[in-house]
Amino acid sequence: MSSHLDHIYPVFDKMLPREAKEELLGQKGCVIWMYGLSGSGKSTLANLLERRLHEQGRFVKVLDGDNIRSGLNNNLGFSDEDRLENIRRVSEVSKLFADAGVIVVNSFITPKNDLRRMAREIVGDDDLLEVYVKASFETCAARDPKGLYAKVKAGEVKQFTGKDSSFEEPERPDLIIDTEAFSEEECLSQLLEAAQEKLVRS
Ligand code: ADX
Repeated sequence: MSSHLDHIYPVFDKMLPREAKEELLGQKGCVIWMYGLSGSGKSTLANLLERRLHEQGRFVKVLDGDNIRSGLNNNLGFSDEDRLENIRRVSEVSKLFADAGVIVVNSFITPKNDLRRMAREIVGDDDLLEVYVKASFETCAARDPKGLYAKVKAGEVKQFTGKDSSFEEPERPDLIIDTEAFSEEECLSQLLEAAQEKLVRS
């Protein structure tokens, strides 16, 4: 079957290799992908991790659901189809950043296992650290940092994750961070420890 891709000619071999950029930056590119319910603590941890790594001389970029959805993905909603396209684009962007030697820290609900599998396929096993930021729906609703859970209760938000759109328990996260059981600082140390392994690869 013919497709528009038949007439696309990507050229990678003439490009300056990834290794040259990693050498310049003194680090390996990778993607630390955090997923979990809205209000579980993903964005808080992503921002803390970015600052901590930055202080250590690392070059880091956070990609966050709310931010990306107000720019690159502002044409996407919360149907299963749109979430798939959201995660596909974010995975491709993450891969581009990692190829440029950047440490990418992602914060997306990524509610289904097929989305997580797709992200892994696009980014690649070697470059990805999958982190499940775990907190129950009830805890997230009690925290309600954006006032969203109150809106859901009032019937103002549809297709909400954990309510009328499902969140699947992950099959194979590299790390689980339980934000109900541990303090912010403890969660950050667990994250840093796991991230170190990816960061110091040679
Ligand atoms: S994902 O499911 O496609 O991975 P993503 O992480 O990009 O979601 O966006 C989630 C953010 O969008 C939430 O943190 C919340 O602030 C906002 N949001 C708005 N509507 C919804 C909804 N119906 N379900 C979940 N999050 C929503």
